[in-house]
Amino acid sequence: RRRIFSGVKPTGHLTLGNYLGAVRRWVQEDQHGADALFSVVDLHALTVEHDPARLRRLSRQAATLMLASGLDPDRCTLFVQSHVDEHARLSYLMECTATDGEMRRMIQYKEKTARERAGGGSVRLSLLTYPALMAADILAYGTDEVPVGDDQAQHVELARVLAQRFNQRYGAVFTVPRMTRPPVAARVMDLQDPTSKMGKSHAETAGIVYLLDEEDTVRRKVMRAVTDSGSEVVYDREAQPGVANLLEILAACMDGLDGADGTDGTDGKAPEELAGEYSSYGALKKDTAEAVVELLRPIRARHAELCADPSYVDGVLRAGAERARGLARPRVDAAYEAVGLLPSA
Ligand code: TYM
Repeated sequence: RRRIFSGVKPTGHLTLGNYLGAVRRWVQEDQHGADALFSVVDLHALTVEHDPARLRRLSRQAATLMLASGLDPDRCTLFVQSHVDEHARLSYLMECTATDGEMRRMIQYKEKTARERAGGGSVRLSLLTYPALMAADILAYGTDEVPVGDDQAQHVELARVLAQRFNQRYGAVFTVPRMTRPPVAARVMDLQDPTSKMGKSHAETAGIVYLLDEEDTVRRKVMRAVTDSGSEVVYDREAQPGVANLLEILAACMDGLDGADGTDGTDGKAPEELAGEYSSYGALKKDTAEAVVELLRPIRARHAELCADPSYVDGVLRAGAERARGLARPRVDAAYEAVGLLPSA
């Protein structure tokens, strides 16, 4: 069976971007017919300043929301990255496979360090080496496919390069993975700044829809979305990024509702097509707001149920970590041996 791996970094509350760009597809497609692993990649959250108590809360919340979204522990493996030592173990070998230049070229590193330094802050070394850990996450499982949003393309590409380089040097240990992306909403933009990504760790939250936002908050955020000057509704990401973003969100939501039973959302319309159905921004916003509210309602409800039963979530994560360890261990051991480290037993 195809092996699939993907993850969410618990640096903030999960957003509509995380859901449409990644989690929904894990639920509707990836966990069916493939051997899929999904992880709350908490080690990655240590690459930026963090508060330990908040990290603990966010990690648990992310796992709970993944289940609330429909990940089914009978169909996939859900676990917390730090519970499986193999990630950190393999990350070091990836650091020994990559060059510092490759790491410094990562767009997210450049953007984040620029922001940190502008604010007078310092940058953790792990932010630079982050893609090595991410490559380890993927490669430890012999992953074939990595379903992610567009913003992860460069990181997945580096994982491919590192897998190939390692195999060439030391023998065929790793599968070379490939990225998969959703047909719409692979990059949901901030509602207040439609030229930048809707990101869960942004300080300014007015343009970010969180999965756990109250319904009225969702409505307000969508209704106040920045649109473009002009009044015609057309789908043009360059000239009308705000409107295009709403059209993509609406298209994705409608597709999602069609496919909520786990079947393909084939009745969905493309954003271009939807544009033709609207003659005003107001009507587009209103329909988008309602579509998002409908999309999130069952997730919020299920989340509340799961919060009442924390031992269930703990059990899922414990079983997930155990399975993940069993899968990763032999491959990481093989990699250690391949580079010339003496086997310990
Ligand atoms: P993270 O936690 O930032 O995002 C989780 C997933 O959500 C997608 N995503 C989006 N998709 C569309 N529009 C958006 N605005 C948006 N924001 C986020 C991301 O593309 C991602 O798929 N480095 C990763 C976590 C990670 C990982 C991995 C992923 C660590 N190791 C191994 C896959 C495989 C990250 O920070 O995702």
